[in-house]
Amino acid sequence: SSADKGGWSSFMAKEIAEQPDAIANTLRGRIVEGAVEIPELGSLGPDILKDIDRIVIIACGTAAYAASTAKYAIEAWARVPVDVELSHEFRYRTPVLSARTLLISVSQSGETMDTLMAVKYARDAGVKTLSVCNTQSATIPRESDGVIYTHAGPEVAVASTKAFVAQIVALYLFGLHLGTVRGTLSTEGLHDMTRQLLALPEKLAEVLEVTDTVRQLAHWMADTRSVLFLGRHVGYPIALEGALKLKEISYIHAEGFAAGELKHGPIALIEPGQPVFVVVPSPRSSAELHSKIVSNIQEIRARGARVIAIAEKGDAAVLPFADEVIPVPLAEPLIQPLLSVVPLQLFALELSTAKGLDVDQPRNLAKSVTVE
Ligand code: G6P
Repeated sequence: SSADKGGWSSFMAKEIAEQPDAIANTLRGRIVEGAVEIPELGSLGPDILKDIDRIVIIACGTAAYAASTAKYAIEAWARVPVDVELSHEFRYRTPVLSARTLLISVSQSGETMDTLMAVKYARDAGVKTLSVCNTQSATIPRESDGVIYTHAGPEVAVASTKAFVAQIVALYLFGLHLGTVRGTLSTEGLHDMTRQLLALPEKLAEVLEVTDTVRQLAHWMADTRSVLFLGRHVGYPIALEGALKLKEISYIHAEGFAAGELKHGPIALIEPGQPVFVVVPSPRSSAELHSKIVSNIQEIRARGARVIAIAEKGDAAVLPFADEVIPVPLAEPLIQPLLSVVPLQLFALELSTAKGLDVDQPRNLAKSVTVE
């Protein structure tokens, strides 16, 4: 009923707007005096975490893009190699595992059958398992050695939004904890990152201010047949997630690419008028990263692409080359994806709405896929 939607036009609209609160809840009680505390890790104590030599994160759909985003941060802070795999691809190919592998599953529902089967498979192979889950006492956390609940609140819309950002934040908290336990992260680095995380709810509230701009863009693009999304580094999984959101609820053909792959194929798709969203890394990322994406924008622009840049407020280098700039608040490079995904969520929502589609219940999809 509309009452459950709290006055919003859809659950998705409501859940997008709830992201500042969702993240405040994910963080609540877990940052104490600048350090991270996750008591729910169960048997996965410091002795075990010190000893792991590899992390495999498994998930499906949006949760897999949350995992891919967190890979950059966990590797940077804990210096452990992280592989992200789709649960169903992991499960059916006799993966190489050892007692020093940590398997992390990410699932909003905690009931996705592909992910559950992969967790059981790993557990039976003697691998330690950690679950990142949004649903209290769901099956996957019950089958795992430890669990980090995302506490984002119930998510009703099929297209995942607040659970996605909460999954990244939960994985970041784990990465900071792991880096602390393993001694790979300085106290200063830890304090800096926890400060950034605590500032995130406010920045998420700020980025929601682009809603009207994005709505206009979506109305103007309602007849578009295909939309491309480009990103680099942490912006790459965000580009993939932006494309997934659009496919899921607006049924428009959408593809996400690593910007570095452009010249290896996707640039052939660019023809005059082709809309391309570009997730521009923070100018405080490495200078190479930022200038590379600016030249990618120039390359597609020269071939007639219509460029919509998701860029940090005040990023002057992007302005001359973009048709539209959607500004996101200033944030450290690893925090930025949590903000730059929001305009892409809003774009999918507004485009689906402009087309008169059922935003919350897209055709052929289920919120939780409980069959393999
Ligand atoms: C379904 C949903 C997606 C979701 C995926 C994984 O496909 O439609 O929105 O990302 O399942 O769900 P989970 O509950 O495991 O995060």
